[in-house]
Order: sequence, then structure tokens, then C-alpha cells
Amino acid sequence: MSNSGAQANRTAANRSSAAPGGDGGLQEALTAQGEAVTRVLDEMLAPVEGPRGRVIEAMRYSALGGGKRLRPFLVCESARLFGVAEAQALRVGAAIEMVHCYSLIHDDLPAMDDSELRRGRATAHVAFDEATAILAGDGLLTEAFTVLADARTHAKAEVRCALVASLAAAAGAAGMVGGQMIDISPEREGLDLAGISHLQSLKTGALIRFSCEAGAILAEAGQAERAALLGYAEDLGLAFQIADDLLDEESTPEALGKPTGQDANLGKATFVGQLGIEKAREKAQELVDSACARLDLFGEKAELLKQTAAFVVSRRS
Ligand code: IPE
Ligand code: IPE
Ligand code: MG
Ligand code: MG
Ligand code: MG
Repeated sequence: MSNSGAQANRTAANRSSAAPGGDGGLQEALTAQGEAVTRVLDEMLAPVEGPRGRVIEAMRYSALGGGKRLRPFLVCESARLFGVAEAQALRVGAAIEMVHCYSLIHDDLPAMDDSELRRGRATAHVAFDEATAILAGDGLLTEAFTVLADARTHAKAEVRCALVASLAAAAGAAGMVGGQMIDISPEREGLDLAGISHLQSLKTGALIRFSCEAGAILAEAGQAERAALLGYAEDLGLAFQIADDLLDEESTPEALGKPTGQDANLGKATFVGQLGIEKAREKAQELVDSACARLDLFGEKAELLKQTAAFVVSRRS
């Protein structure tokens, strides 16, 4: 990824002039928005002196150290469909990235997937210690709601409240946490394709659905637009997790920045395990096509979101 100032300064508005052909500016946009959300996170998670400083240091280690920043990108792009101010979208993007980073810290713990590599470096419990990693996850989860409740995120209290309620539902036992529970439960072994879809839809899909719905919530958009974004997100989330499972099977820790071969070793319930590599890849592509069709009512404004769906299954990390 380039760190050039010119790219960092590219805004949502001037991205629409991206040259036709190629990826239509998706990589540039991902880089620029990823850098923008990292700057916001850096400010929100300011270091502190004293013994409390260690948990902030671990939060910063996990939240500022790389990642595709896909979820903040989805927030910013969904918000851009409605002309929402980028500063507001970036705050919501920072909040969802905090929740995502918390989920990764806890997912990597010895009691969960027991992973030592994340985003190309030591996982939080290895770089710090288990107790600090647990607290860093708790700290990031909680801080996300502080950000959403702040008046700088939206002037209207009811919009802030809707964001808080939606993220809480997505992150909790009816969403990501519930999916993680099924993922490690003995019952996962008997799951059929519908059961695996449900697991993935909670574990990974819920945070992706929030990310796509957030733009509509910020804009107080109508039901049709909201439903289109949620439909897109449902397909995208499933395609995203199938791609993650394919990469776990086919990639290397060097290329991926996290361990590979874990799903088979840990007996995880995945589409790849159930269908095999080729059929899982076909399923992911079908989901991408379906995701893109759901955005037709937004016309050309949704071009980058459509390209994002294609990227999610073609990515190498
Ligand atoms: C990894 O998510 C965890 C899953 C939900 C599969 P990402 O692939 O988005 O991880 P980063 O943020 O780029 O590191
Ligand atoms: C975890 O899924 C999804 C989360 C809720 C963090 P995985 O266990 O497959 O994610 P990776 O492969 O470790 O990133
Ligand atoms: Mg896991
Ligand atoms: Mg894992
Ligand atoms: Mg995985």
C-alpha cells in the first residue's frame, strides 16, 4: 500500500473521477480511506501515562497495526450514497473497526483459536499477555459505543441511539458473539449448509451488515434503500467468510499475515469443508453477483461497493 500524501488526501468526492477500466479506483480508495480511519483511531486512542497506559498501548497495538479496514470502507461508501459528511462516517467507521479488532483479539486467544500471528505480527496476547489482551478487547468494544454516543458522530440523539442499538445487536449474542459461540460448540459438527450459513451470518455477517446499514442510519434513509444495503451486506458477508475459509485452506501465513490450515485442524464448520474448494469458490462468486444486483437502485453511485464485492472474493489477504 502506498503512503503518499497525495493518496492520503484523496477524498470521496474526487474519487468519482477515477479512471475507467482497471479496478476503477477501488485500491486507491481503500488505501486512502484506510489511512483516514487509522488517523481517526490514532486520535481517539491517545496514549496515557501510568499503569493504565498498558491497556491503551495494547488497544493501539491491535487497532492501528494494519488490516484491510474493509468495515470502515463499507460505512464510508454506504454513507457516501446519501451525501453524509465524511467526518461523521469516519467516526462510525472507527467505531466498527474497534469492535472488529476486539473480536480478533479475543478470537486469537488460547481459549478460542489459539493463534500467534495476526496482521503479520504477534497477536495481542503474545505481544502483551493474556489478561492485557482480554482487557484491550473489552476496552475497544466499550470505546466504540463512547464514539457512537458522542454528538460529533451525529447532531440528532435519536440517530446516535439507532447507531448504538444497531451495533450492540450486531456485536452481541444475537450477532457476532453468538456466531463465535456456535463456531466453537460441539454442535457445529452436524451443521448442514443452511446451518453453516447461519453461523457465518452471525459470526462475520453481523458486523458487515452494521457497516453497510450505518450509512442509511446516518442519513435517515428510507426503507427501500436500507433494505437494498442490508441485502447487499447479507450476500457480501457470506462471500467474505467463504473467501476467508478458502484463504485458510490455500494461502500461506506469509501471504495472509495469520495462520493457515486452522479451520481443518480445529474442525471448523465451513463451506470449503462441506462443498470442497471449487464449489465453495462458485458459491462465493454467485453471492458476489447477487450482492451487486441488490445495489441497482443506487445507479453509478454504488460502483465502488460493487467492486468491493468482487474484491472480497479475489483478495489474497
Ligand atoms: C478477519 O477479518 C476475520 C473475519 C471475520 C474472517 P478481515 O479479513 O477483515 O481482517 P483484517 O481486518 O483485514 O485484518
Ligand atoms: C473469526 O473468524 C471471526 C470473528 C468474529 C473474529 P475466523 O476465526 O475464521 O477469523 P480468522 O481467520 O482468525 O481471521
Ligand atoms: Mg475463529
Ligand atoms: Mg480465528
Ligand atoms: Mg478464518
